[in-house]
Amino acid sequence: MLHKLLICLFMWSLIGVLGYEVKSVMEGDSVTLYTKTSIHSDYMIQWFFESLFTRIATIDKAVNKIPTYDDGRFKGRLQLNVQTGDLTITNMRTEDSGEYSVIISDMVMTLYRFNVYAHLPVPVITRDSCSCSKCVLLCSVINVTDVTDVSLSWYKRNSLLSNISLSDLNISSISLHLEVEYQDTNTYSCAVNNPLINQTQHLNITHLCQPCSDCVSCCDTTKAVIRLVASALVGVATVAVLIYDIRSRRAEQKRNTNFI
Ligand SMILES: *[C@@H]1O[C@H](CO)[C@@H](O)[C@H](O)[C@H]1NC(C)=O
Ligand SMILES: *[C@@H]1O[C@H](CO)[C@@H](O)[C@H](O)[C@H]1NC(C)=O
Ligand SMILES: *[C@@H]1O[C@H](CO)[C@@H](O)[C@H](O)[C@H]1NC(C)=O
Ligand SMILES: *[C@@H]1O[C@H](CO)[C@@H](O)[C@H](O)[C@H]1NC(C)=O
Ligand SMILES: *[C@@H]1O[C@H](CO)[C@@H](O)[C@H](O)[C@H]1NC(C)=O
Repeated sequence: MLHKLLICLFMWSLIGVLGYEVKSVMEGDSVTLYTKTSIHSDYMIQWFFESLFTRIATIDKAVNKIPTYDDGRFKGRLQLNVQTGDLTITNMRTEDSGEYSVIISDMVMTLYRFNVYAHLPVPVITRDSCSCSKCVLLCSVINVTDVTDVSLSWYKRNSLLSNISLSDLNISSISLHLEVEYQDTNTYSCAVNNPLINQTQHLNITHLCQPCSDCVSCCDTTKAVIRLVASALVGVATVAVLIYDIRSRRAEQKRNTNFI
């Protein structure tokens, strides 16, 4: 135990000095972790995940040439090269993100940091609500399995209009608004991305932004009502003017007759 703790401390100091070799991979990928040394013919080789208490693969060449593997999370996915000591992990999962190290006869030889990113769904663009003046659109992603470093963005041509980070909010489903004019001829797209992939959906304004039927009738009705009210007001005003005119003329006539 003390022995392990000492190695652990030694390793921590190494991490500070050397840092990790950082690699980003997609879930489902296979990766190979190299011992990067060839002077370990009879040595014991041990691969660790996260801490020195989680040993995932071992071979003791002084005893035999048969590797032993972790029976937990990596079960059936590890392959240790007996010649080189390199470790291949197949079908990487997002939960395999973390630090890997190898100890060759008490010496920490390599430190890897793997970031495993999930596949992303293609975003979906839908018409939001009926508006007479503008076309209001929504770009949505649903049930993103791993939101680490994932964000959703609207682009006009290649420039960013708006974006939102799913990882900051820690939510797996989200929608982002966009308003365009009906006659807009720019190209718009919506993309969901993490550092490794970019799933893009292009907006077809002619297809999605037909003025919707409710909107057309609602606009027509409103216009018709306004026209009706306006003409009614003009009518009332005309009648009022006429009546006033007739009355004042009669009054004048009366005054004139009185004077005569
Ligand atoms: C999203 O996840 C919820 C709950 O896990 C599920 O009920 C729903 O069907 C999923 N939707 C899609 C489109 O996968
Ligand atoms: C994602 O795609 C959009 C549109 O094609 C592009 O403008 C943007 O630079 C891409 N982003 C990344 C991170 O690759
Ligand atoms: C939005 O995108 C820009 C440029 O790609 C990036 O620097 C920024 O972090 C993003 N913000 C969010 C909230 O995703
Ligand atoms: C993100 O949300 C999930 C459940 O929706 C929760 O289990 C997890 O702890 C949250 N992570 C952070 C960093 O808040
Ligand atoms: C956009 O939609 C219209 C109408 O549905 C269709 O005729 C046209 O081909 C589409 N354009 C693109 C680039 O897909």
